[in-house]
Amino acid sequence: MNFTVLTIFPEMMDAFWQNGMIKRAIENKIIAGSSVNIRDFANGKHRATDDKPYGGGSGMVMKPEPLTYAIKKVREDNPDSKVISLSPQGKSLNKEIVRQLSHEKGLIFVCGRYEGLDERIYPLIDEEISIGDYVLTGGELAAMVVIDSVARFVPGVLGSFDSAENDTFENSLVEHAHYTRPPEFNGAKVPDVLLSGNHKKIDEWRLETSLKRTFLKRPDLLEKRIFSDQEKEILKSWCKNIEKIIE
Ligand code: ADE
Repeated sequence: MNFTVLTIFPEMMDAFWQNGMIKRAIENKIIAGSSVNIRDFANGKHRATDDKPYGGGSGMVMKPEPLTYAIKKVREDNPDSKVISLSPQGKSLNKEIVRQLSHEKGLIFVCGRYEGLDERIYPLIDEEISIGDYVLTGGELAAMVVIDSVARFVPGVLGSFDSAENDTFENSLVEHAHYTRPPEFNGAKVPDVLLSGNHKKIDEWRLETSLKRTFLKRPDLLEKRIFSDQEKEILKSWCKNIEKIIE
């Protein structure tokens, strides 16, 4: 899968491409990631990428020519890629959109700055995405959020594809509690079951902590869940215990 980010601040993206899982996935050729400087497509002495809005008002607007040329060039090189602009006006990113995007051959991200893009750029945009109801100073951070969440679904990016499937939200449960070494820290011990080597018991414990954490942190997620028989048993056992405590 090919990710291309059109930005006037390509340096902002460098740390993203050059660290962690994303760096490894690029090195292993599982994904490709690159930035394109919109300014390289701007003309004139100052190579301006923004200008004052017609009709007056505050802020600046991204000029149509540099972005149009940049999008067309990148699209020529990646004809099957989808063009996404990042903006607070877009569709709110969620797990369904992330999964859907992970099936695309390539994604081209247009990072706006200032007040937004000249309206004449929009015919080149396939989809507009927001990462939440707040306003950032530019689309770069949003592009990183989208790429990071999408890349995790590209087979081979994570250690095992399983990990993305088991994530919080994928099955409407918050993830179970995690522990690593040391076995005791500041007086707090790792639960014995995790050291037992009994994988059936470990799975049961994980499911129970996952249910408990969902119940406490994100009860709204439980409303969407179709419970398995095992989960129903766990929930019933809580009820029995609560009845005992109340009595
Ligand atoms: N650009 C500015 N704010 C944004 C947001 N909330 N989501 C995506 N892109 C943005």
